Amino acid sequence: TVVTIVMILSAYLAGSISSAVLVCKLRGLPDPRTQGSGNPGATNVLRIGGASSAALVLFFDMLKGAAPAYLAFRLGVDPIALGVIAIAACLGHIFPIFFNFKGGKGVATAFGAMAPIGHDLALCLMGSWVLLVLITRYSSFAAICTALLAPVYTWWLDDRFTIPVAMLSTLIVIRHKDNIQRLLKGEESKVSRKKRTKA
Ligand code: G3P
Repeated sequence: TVVTIVMILSAYLAGSISSAVLVCKLRGLPDPRTQGSGNPGATNVLRIGGASSAALVLFFDMLKGAAPAYLAFRLGVDPIALGVIAIAACLGHIFPIFFNFKGGKGVATAFGAMAPIGHDLALCLMGSWVLLVLITRYSSFAAICTALLAPVYTWWLDDRFTIPVAMLSTLIVIRHKDNIQRLLKGEESKVSRKKRTKA
């Protein structure tokens, strides 16, 4: 329907707004695309700017997925169309029209888009990611494993959304190709907060 097409396009456009680039610019931090891993996402902003900047990026990147998914959910859009809207939001984040199509990896946005499915699913996903980061200190590894677990949790908790969630997970895993290569070579950087230098 027209409503679904409008939602897909607006999800893509809103997804294209790079929170990481904007937060860093507003806070006078270096451009995340040229520092650390070069990825405009919350993990890399944590490396460059510390916890509060990273939290802001995480919040707005999640919102880019959560807002269109929640709206579609409330409008009673069917699960596959809802999945396409969520994918559009993530594709905006990954290939942003406003930032030369060079974006992030879509972890926060995909999580935001999956969260409206249910509190129990959101809790399982967040719990898995946090636990895996605490154990391994690799944000990317935690994201890849959580993406692989997401369709399993969804199948268990609300089977209607297993396919759309699996589509989002596939996108996330593919986008972590370089991280997977670095993890295999033992060259991936761990999560660490920017070291405070004494004035
Ligand atoms: O959220 C992206 C994360 O999974 C990896 O980020 O900066 O370590 O490549 P980064």
